Order: sequence, then structure tokens, then C-alpha cells
Amino acid sequence: MKASLKSFASDNNAPVHEAVFRAMMEANEGDAIGYGDDIHTLAAEKKFKDLFGSDVRVFFMLTGTGSNVASLSHVTRPYHAIICSDKAHLEKDECGAPEKMCGCKLHTLTSADGKIQVEQILPLLESKGFEHHAQPKVLSITQATEMGTVYHPEEIRTLARLANEHDLYLHMDGARIANAAASLDLSLAEITRFCGVDILSFGATKNGAMAAEAVVFFDQSMAADFQYTRKQSMQLLSKMRYVSAQFNALLRDDLWLKNARHANKMAALLADKIKDIEDIEITQKVETNAVFACLPDRAIEKLQRRYFFYVWDKGRNEVRWMTAHNTRERDIEEFVEAIRWALG
Ligand SMILES: Cc1ncc(COP(=O)(O)O)c(C=O)c1O
Repeated sequence: MKASLKSFASDNNAPVHEAVFRAMMEANEGDAIGYGDDIHTLAAEKKFKDLFGSDVRVFFMLTGTGSNVASLSHVTRPYHAIICSDKAHLEKDECGAPEKMCGCKLHTLTSADGKIQVEQILPLLESKGFEHHAQPKVLSITQATEMGTVYHPEEIRTLARLANEHDLYLHMDGARIANAAASLDLSLAEITRFCGVDILSFGATKNGAMAAEAVVFFDQSMAADFQYTRKQSMQLLSKMRYVSAQFNALLRDDLWLKNARHANKMAALLADKIKDIEDIEITQKVETNAVFACLPDRAIEKLQRRYFFYVWDKGRNEVRWMTAHNTRERDIEEFVEAIRWALG
């Protein structure tokens, strides 16, 4: 039982930010119409329009998997294919839900850093118009990636141009969109809509919410009838005001950015403190709130007696250490001491 161990396993393991809980408590006043027809949801929708433009359509959801799968199923038919990296949450961590719910083939592209490149995609597009092959319809990228790296705006624009030329949608899994924006020091619109992203799964749960995700369509026509897809996807919460209240808290006074900057800073601090330790090799650029590192398996086992974290790639003795909005400098210092002890 790992419950009492301090966790560097995931930002999912962090507590709910207290401002989020407070906002939920404030929303817990009297009756409110269910399913989103309430003042909190109206206010949260307005905040999304302020962030991305008055013509966006936003739908509040409960899980990141739900956001990905519902939005993708909305814009695809079962004979379509979705192109993503082999590290994508869609591919690895959604229990086959995209295949089940969309009926689509997933084309996965090998990627060491979680990002996909135009040269890898082009050969797949030769299937377009050939009736024996699943028809590529969506490029799905993750920002920040599952490997903690970020796509720079020019890279997203290049993928968007390709998508546009080949009649594909560009979907972004933004479970950690806040960490990416903080890392790039750009606005949320600058790394999504302004780069040509069509559909965004906007994550807040890893950024201090309890359960708050959203699907954002930058083209209104794509959003048509999505309310029915959301309902069929079992992501329409009756007590919607509590999801909306979470967004209202995080989007007020840029709390989302403060949380993300802090989480990123703690990962950078951890990386800085371990980079010169013999027997540790940092394996990915530390651009957001994850540190990937290889270290001897005996040290991993020893460290896991005191801390909870995941072994990412057992064959390489690679671990993933993640920070979150609540990680303190002292936690990092103690963790680094423990790492030295485990290696000793
Ligand atoms: C990249 C990415 N996408 C989406 C999700 C959403 O997952 P969930 O369905 O658990 O909210 C996660 C959660 O770990 C993730 O890391």
C-alpha cells in the first residue's frame, strides 16, 4: 500500500488546489439548474471566450480520456484513421477507448520525445482516396507531450498546414496545456488556435482541479451537435456548476498559470540538482513538469520504499518523476537526498 508515501508519480496525485475547493463551496449555494444552464457555467464559458475568442464553442467534461474520445468520435467515421505518436495517451493509456468509441484505426508514429514529424506522416497520407485503406482524418498531438516536452508554435503551424492541405483535423490533447503555455511563455491561444489547432482537449485536473476538463472547438461548424455526442459519451454532468466552478477558480487571476509555472519550476529544480550525479542520466529535455531519468535498478527499488513513482521503461531502468502545483522546494531537496541515499 503506497498511500502514505510522498508521490513524484503524477500530477494526478496532487491535491485539489484550495481555491478550487473554495470556488466549489461558493457554488454550493441553493439550487441551480442542472446540466450547465447555471450562472457558474455561463461565467466559465465567458472565460474561455476571453481566452480564445468570442466565437469558440466550449463543452465541459469530466475526464481527459472522455474529452479526447468524444471529440474525436464526433469528427470521424469508422473508416477513418487517427495519426498520433506511439507515446500518445490515446494509444497507451485509454484502454482502447478511441478504437472502441470512434471505430477508427490509430496510426502510431515512433517518437522518442513524444512529438511527431511531417516526414513520418507523409507516407500515411498516400492512403488517401484508396478504398482498401483506412482514411486518415485526424492528426492528434499532445501538448505538453507525455514525455514532458513541448511543441513550439512553428512546429504546430507546420503540422496544421499539413493537416489543412490533406483535409485532416488537427486535434490537441491538452491535458497539460497549462504547463506547455507556461514553459513557452505564450498564451493559451498562441499555442492552439493561432497555430491552426482545430479541436483542443483542455485539461485542468492536473493543474489543480478535482475533475474538470473541456473540449474546445475553434471552428463552430465542427461543434454542431456535439452536445449529443457528449451526452452519449456519458460526459454530461447533471451538477455541472461544480465543474464550471473549478474552471472559474483556475482561470481567475491566472491561477492556472501560477500553478503550471510552479510545477515546471520544481521539475527544473529537480533536474538541476540531479544532473551531475553519477549513475543518473536524464533522458528527456525537462521543459515542463516531468523528469525522465535512467538509474540503476537497485537504486530504483530502494527509492520506491520511500517514494511513490512509476518506472516508465523497465528495460532501460527509466523512471518518470513528476511535480505539481503543491510540490515544495523542500520536497525536492529531501527527494534528492533520498536519491543519493538510494544510489549509495
Ligand atoms: C497526455 C494525457 N492525456 C489525457 C489524460 C487524461 O486522462 P484521464 O482520462 O485520466 O483524465 C492524461 C492523464 O494522465 C494524460 O497524461
